[in-house]
Amino acid sequence: MGVDIVSMTIQDYDEVTALWKESEGIQLSDADSRVRIAHFLERNPGLSLVAREGGKLVGAVLCGHDGRRAYIDHLAVHSNYRRQGIGRTLVGRCMYALMQMGIPKCHILITEGNEDAVSFWRKLGWAPRVEMLSMIRELPEGA
Ligand SMILES: CC(C)(COP(=O)(O)OP(=O)(O)OC[C@H]1O[C@@H](n2cnc3c(N)ncnc32)[C@H](O)[C@@H]1OP(=O)(O)O)[C@@H](O)C(=O)NCCC(=O)NCCS
Repeated sequence: MGVDIVSMTIQDYDEVTALWKESEGIQLSDADSRVRIAHFLERNPGLSLVAREGGKLVGAVLCGHDGRRAYIDHLAVHSNYRRQGIGRTLVGRCMYALMQMGIPKCHILITEGNEDAVSFWRKLGWAPRVEMLSMIRELPEGA
């Protein structure tokens, strides 16, 4: 049976979050609530994807851009469906769509120690960015 790759919609939310929760290397936060994912999908129509085989959700990825740089997040393939090219295809579809939109660069974040993910991304031609340090600060709510 073939794998279908289609745009993610908010109707996929429960299945997608179930996949993310069982995928090592994916850390969910309040940014992944239904409301925030719905907002993200509205802001980036068509870019985030799900993979289904016979209706079963087997892969998912978030992809978006801010007009100058793109971001891929929460790429996951169900453990029974790995090493079949689904991850490569999901990323390839994201990159092609971004290229067509004229976005020239895409970033990803990998949890420290997720060496499998590093190997995967290296295989796809991505390189670690060692010259930058990522920092973060939370904003007060409703200010
Ligand atoms: C990382 C992940 C998405 C890869 O998905 P996948 O569908 O198995 O990947 P693919 O089959 O498309 O593999 C693409 C290439 O990467 C290689 N690759 C995939 N997983 C690898 C691993 N763990 N170690 C080394 N190479 C790997 C494959 O061999 C393939 O190379 P090839 O085409 O030359 O044979 C999947 O392992 C996963 O969901 N991991 C858990 C969640 C996670 O860590 N996500 C990444 C967050 S940054």
